[in-house]
Amino acid sequence: MAELARPKVFVTRRRVSDAIALLSEHFDVEVWGKPSPPPKAVLIMKAAVCQAMLTEVDDVVDRDVLAAAKALRVVANRGVGLDHVDVAEATRLGIAVTNTPGLLAESCADMAFALILAVARRIAYADRRVRTGKWKAFDQTPYLGTDVHGRTLGIVGLGQIGTMVAKRAIGFEMRVLYHSRRRKQEEEDRYGVEWSYGLDPLLATADYITLHVPLKPETRGLIGKRALGLVQPTAVLVNCSRGPIVDTEALTQALAGGKLAGAALDVTDPEPLPRDHPLLKMDNVVVTPHISSASAATFRAMGMLAARNIVAALNGEPMPSCVNADALKAARDTNGASAPAAPAS
Ligand code: DGY
Repeated sequence: MAELARPKVFVTRRRVSDAIALLSEHFDVEVWGKPSPPPKAVLIMKAAVCQAMLTEVDDVVDRDVLAAAKALRVVANRGVGLDHVDVAEATRLGIAVTNTPGLLAESCADMAFALILAVARRIAYADRRVRTGKWKAFDQTPYLGTDVHGRTLGIVGLGQIGTMVAKRAIGFEMRVLYHSRRRKQEEEDRYGVEWSYGLDPLLATADYITLHVPLKPETRGLIGKRALGLVQPTAVLVNCSRGPIVDTEALTQALAGGKLAGAALDVTDPEPLPRDHPLLKMDNVVVTPHISSASAATFRAMGMLAARNIVAALNGEPMPSCVNADALKAARDTNGASAPAAPAS
């Protein structure tokens, strides 16, 4: 008897070999072999024939890709942010979307703190001076930074990552203000963080401002000219969330005009910044290549969770972290047999 064809899975980058191995135990797996993302035409082609895709943050799964997705049942993203996936359209088409929440919060919070310290204590600048032979004799005066301990930290977005940043700030004896859509009493009791009802008072008060909100229409450009006009000239801005949350031009102007003391950006808009961008010429700016979650252990764990989501989805089992599970179930309950076939959730 002919063997049943195994479901096809398209993995958009050769990144986590254990995850690819796990998928290969169950499915026919094809991996995009180049380090850059597959072009849109390839995503469209694969969406038409594959039952699952394992994506990265720079794979845009938009309406065009989803319109071609005749066989697709799940988009499993290796990462928590889903601004590159049209989740609403996927839901309408009965396609599950999964991400990797929770397990990257500690690593991202480590990075946010590393960036705060890097700007405050001029670490990248000092390293550059040593490497380029500019350190000739003991003299600390070109490297004088600002303290982190005892200062005020403003956390914009107190989700899982923001909360882990607050936890670290306790060790630095910082006063921590947070702004979030809703007040978080449990976190206030546990970490002593203070609610800032509006964003503006936080911006005007904090010595260090760190962004941990997802990219949505309402957060795009959140830190623009107006917001930057409120911050103290001694303040430092840290962005580990998504580049477009900060208006790059407004940030460049604010730094150039001395309205802000420094910035540390793990994410930028665009990404990467052009090599000749003014931000890359400023000694009070640190830019890293979107690596907040990238400890080796977390990187692997994210890949494995994405793979486990695919295994569950295609085996009709509950997925560990499906973002549209409730919406898919509601559509099934409402439409019954006429609803698009969706994986179990
Ligand atoms: C995330 O998890 O969204 C990171 O930004 C990319 O992996």
